[in-house]
Amino acid sequence: MRRRSSPIAVYPGSFDPVTNGHLDIVKRALTMFDTVIVAVLKNPDKKALFPLSERLELLRKSVADLEGAVVDSFSGLLVDYLHHRGAAIIVKGLRAVSDFEYEFQMALMNRKIDSRIETVFLMTSYRYAFLSSSLIKEVAALGGDISGLVPTCVEARLGEKFGARVPDRIPQRIDME
Ligand code: PNS
Repeated sequence: MRRRSSPIAVYPGSFDPVTNGHLDIVKRALTMFDTVIVAVLKNPDKKALFPLSERLELLRKSVADLEGAVVDSFSGLLVDYLHHRGAAIIVKGLRAVSDFEYEFQMALMNRKIDSRIETVFLMTSYRYAFLSSSLIKEVAALGGDISGLVPTCVEARLGEKFGARVPDRIPQRIDME
């Protein structure tokens, strides 16, 4: 059966906080879909560094220049949210093979719940392949340099939370990409 693909895709996640790796996926998705809804899961059971309102605010600032990117939040089943937004495509980012197993499991579960939903996997830039929100929080909390890895508004907010970074070692710059 031939179907017209949806011009709307949903990119779900915790985004605690958004990183440049997430933004890389949003930009790639926008080359394929007219509208990409970045949907933040409201999950009161999961302890987050940033409250939902702050995660949404940081995301909105970060995608302000990206035409077609919309930021929203959802609770409950992701597939129900897709129905609510008239979308049939989930976008997920893949960094490494290690991401694949869990993502594959979720994609098949979502398809089991609703066979009309497809998940599209986009590979992140190699520049961000090592990035995760958890690592960003850890490095920022320990005073490490996270510049270039997160949007500037996120860097500033992490600086406020953990205190400004005090350089206490010889700066090292090695560009070997
Ligand atoms: O950034 P995360 O924490 O890896 O995102 C996980 C997310 C939000 C995509 C996933 O937990 C999710 O879709 N939750 C909604 C609840 C749901 O639909 N669960 C069944 C999906 S298999």
